[in-house]
Amino acid sequence: MKVEPAGALVGHIAVPGDKSISHRAVLIGALCEGETHVRGFGRSGDTQSTIDAVRTLGVEVDDISEDELVVKGRGLTPARGLTPAVVDCGNAGTLMRLLAGILAGQRGRFELTGDESLSARPMDRIAEPLNRMGARVTTNPLVVEGSDALHGIEYALPVASAQVKSAVLLAGLNADGTTTVIEPAPTRDHTELMLAAAGARVRRRPSSVSIEPASRLQLGEVEVPGDFSAAAPFIVAATLLSGSDLTIHDVGFNPRRTGLLDVLERMGARMTVFNRRKVAGEWIGDVQVQSAELVATDVTADEVPRLVDELPLFALAAAGARGDSHLTGAAELRVKETDRIESVTNGLRALGVRIRAREDGFEVRGVPARPTGGRMSSDGDHRIAMLAAVAGVTSRQGVEVRDADAVAISFPGFFDLLDSVSRR
Ligand code: S3P
Repeated sequence: MKVEPAGALVGHIAVPGDKSISHRAVLIGALCEGETHVRGFGRSGDTQSTIDAVRTLGVEVDDISEDELVVKGRGLTPARGLTPAVVDCGNAGTLMRLLAGILAGQRGRFELTGDESLSARPMDRIAEPLNRMGARVTTNPLVVEGSDALHGIEYALPVASAQVKSAVLLAGLNADGTTTVIEPAPTRDHTELMLAAAGARVRRRPSSVSIEPASRLQLGEVEVPGDFSAAAPFIVAATLLSGSDLTIHDVGFNPRRTGLLDVLERMGARMTVFNRRKVAGEWIGDVQVQSAELVATDVTADEVPRLVDELPLFALAAAGARGDSHLTGAAELRVKETDRIESVTNGLRALGVRIRAREDGFEVRGVPARPTGGRMSSDGDHRIAMLAAVAGVTSRQGVEVRDADAVAISFPGFFDLLDSVSRR
C-alpha cells in the first residue's frame, strides 16, 4: 500500500470505539447477570478475538450491528461456570492476560493460545500473581487450571502494566478477602472503572487499587468512547502538516491514556479539547488539531504508561521537531506486538529519520522538515503500520507500507479515513 504525501489534514472525523474498553465490555459482560448492551463497540481483529473467545467458553453474544452487541452474562460464580476449552486469543495480549485472570477463579482446565507474536510475549507476569492467589497457571503454552478457593493478595507490580493489574483484580472478584494491586506508575484504569460501574467494591488510592470479592455484577449498558490511540495518528499527522485543521469527535480522554497530548503540548502543538463530558466514569470529548512548529522534548519512565501505545508516533513527532528528543524508561516497548524499539527505529531510519535505539527507548535528532520517505514494513504490528502511514502523508516522496493489513488488528478503516481527510 503506497501512502502519498499530503499537503494538510482537514475535516471532521470520528474513530472506532476504544479497544481496551471494548475488550473489557465483553469480558466483564460475560461475568454479569443478564444482558450487557454495548454501544460504540470498536470492532477489529483484536476485539473479534474476544467475542470469539467468550463464545468458545459458552457465553452468548448477539451482534446487533458493526458497533453494537449484546453479551448474555453467565454470572460470576464458578458453579455456573465457563466451559473448559482451548481458547484462541489471536494477536490480543489484553484478551489473553485479562481472560487468564477471569479463568483463575473458574473450575476446569483452560488453554489460551495465540498467533506467533502473542505466543512469544511474556505471560509469567500474570502466572506469578495468579499462582500466588491459588490458581495453577503455567506458561508456554499458557494453561490456567482455575480454583474456586482463590485468596486475595497484595501484589506490587514489578512492571507498570494495566493488563497484569486487571488480571489480578478480575481474579480478586472470586477470591476470599481483599485483593490489592500496587502500581509503580499509574496505568489505564478502565477495568476498575467498569467493575465499579458493575457494582463491585473497588477502592482506589493514588498508587494502588483494591477489590473485594463479589457475588454479582451488573453493567446493563456500556457506551464505548472513541479510541484515543486510534485518534493519535491523526493528531500527530495534523500537527506536522502545515495548514491542517482537523477535528476528531467523541474521543476517550481518560487522563491515564492522554499522555501524548501533554507531550505534544510541551513540544508546541496547537490542540483544543472541548465538549468534555463523563460517561460511566470515562471522559469523552472532541479535539481540534491545527498544525504547529514543534520543539524537542524528553519522555521518561513516569510518563511512559500514559502514552505507551503512542510512543512510536512520538518518535515521528520528534523527527519533525527542532532539536534532540529522548525516550527513556520504555523497555516495555520491546515486548509489545513487535519489539517496538527495533521496529520504530529501523522503520523510520529507512525513511530518512535520524533515530537511534537505546536499550529502554530511543533518541531522535529532529529537523523541521519532511522525511524523505521510502519503504517501511509493519512487521505485522498494527501500530507500526499506522506509524508508517503517518510517515507517508508527512514525507516528501510517500511511503510504501508493507504488511499494511495489520491495521485491521485495531482499526480496519484506517487508510480510508486517512485518505478522506488528506488534502493533496
Ligand atoms: C492495554 C494495556 C497496555 C497497552 C495495550 C492495552 C490494556 O499493555 O499497551 O495496548 O487494554 O490494558 P500493558 O499492560 O502490557 O502495558
